[in-house]
Amino acid sequence: MKDSIIVIRGKKRLAGRVKISGAKNAALPELAATILSSKPFRFFNVPVVEDIKVMVKALQIIGSQSEFTGNALKLKLAGLQSHLVPKEIAETSRASILILGPLLARNGYAKVSFPGGCQIGDRKIDFHLEGLKRMGADIHSEGSHIIARAQKIHGIEYTFPKKTVTGTENLLMAACLADGSTCLRNCATEPEVGDLVCLLKKMGADIQEIEADGLLIKGQTSLQGVEHAIIPDRIELGTYIIAGCFLDNDLIIENAVPEYVKSLIQVLHEIGIEVRLGENTIQVSAKGEIYPVEVETSPYPGFPTDLQAQLTALLTQANGSSRVTENIFNNRFQHIKELNKLGARIEVKNNVATVKGKTDLRGGVIHATDLRASAALVLGGLIADGETEIRNAHQLFRGYEHLPEKLIKLGAEIQIVNQDRDKYHNII
Ligand code: EPZ
Repeated sequence: MKDSIIVIRGKKRLAGRVKISGAKNAALPELAATILSSKPFRFFNVPVVEDIKVMVKALQIIGSQSEFTGNALKLKLAGLQSHLVPKEIAETSRASILILGPLLARNGYAKVSFPGGCQIGDRKIDFHLEGLKRMGADIHSEGSHIIARAQKIHGIEYTFPKKTVTGTENLLMAACLADGSTCLRNCATEPEVGDLVCLLKKMGADIQEIEADGLLIKGQTSLQGVEHAIIPDRIELGTYIIAGCFLDNDLIIENAVPEYVKSLIQVLHEIGIEVRLGENTIQVSAKGEIYPVEVETSPYPGFPTDLQAQLTALLTQANGSSRVTENIFNNRFQHIKELNKLGARIEVKNNVATVKGKTDLRGGVIHATDLRASAALVLGGLIADGETEIRNAHQLFRGYEHLPEKLIKLGAEIQIVNQDRDKYHNII
């Protein structure tokens, strides 16, 4: 899918039922957690997306046996074959850094290439490395690799200077096999972190949630292999909720967890759109009128940075000017230049985007720059009149399972073609 293009004919009404897949950002740390045990694991509801395939490949390189059957995945790391996660693996996904902590904890030695992933701003890992150093690791860089060594890591007291999702996950996993107790404070509290804690406890880890977004972990000498179902993906859920808010769309979204998207539901209430909550469904119907709003991204349970681009696309349809402030990453407005090519009127000043509405979008040729920006461009294409061509479509397949197929089932007119469109190969 590297050179594929998404072609969308916009202004088609979306209606019907769509099912949310497993959460990529829960599965990534949980697959890495299998390094902490030599026993077999079975995961269910695993999203089959590119970032997950990269993680499975990385685990295979260090010695894991894996077997995918549909959305079920068996994994077992009986014995280490390598302590190295090579550059070509690490540079495609930020999640490779999640191997560092568990591998160091199990093996006392790890060599991981500096992580890649979405170019959405500084993707620092200083808190990850600072925490592991305090746990007794000797860490230095060699070319594009991080080398970490430790006879045996030990427990620490550590307060994260700012909330970091993978930083919390990395140190949490390492602490599960450390000597003694570890107390982590100002931890990220995203549902994906909570589901990792749930998995680790099933494996036999001794973890208590304590005050001030804290985790108290008593290190164990070994952990078990278990079965675990991946929680639904709240960012995919939010993306489809937003897709239900324009034209006269009417979506019933299944495998939904309303608790995970409370901040989005609150914003939709402010712009005049109410959702209907079922047992594990969310129904959203466009009402036509959308009011402008001011939104700021912040760590969970605040408005997620991973839905900022998608909301920005929707706000081009609001009657009036909205302001979107991005507080987490310093380069997460790359979708805006592309949306403006479709006729949006969005201005950026520092970390604030002012979205003028209501604007009629028209089809054009645009480029996906990162995973969530690509979802925003798809939404733009669905709203726009005429044909929109989104290049670098591989970005989308990193984190959204079957997105084109799911949208086509709802009534969208979408094709995936290869880069040289003159040989018009319809991939779907
Ligand atoms: C996770 O990235 C998610 N990825 C991201 O989703 C998500 O956008 C992000 O959390 C924020 O919610 C995965 O879970 C695999 P951070 P992560 O560490 O952990 C700074 C997607 O689209 N920071 O929480 O890499 C950092 O620069 C992806 O699915 C440090 O300064 O993000 C950023 O400003 C994109 N030092 C802020 O913290 C550190 O050591 C939050 O980053 C670590 C982070």
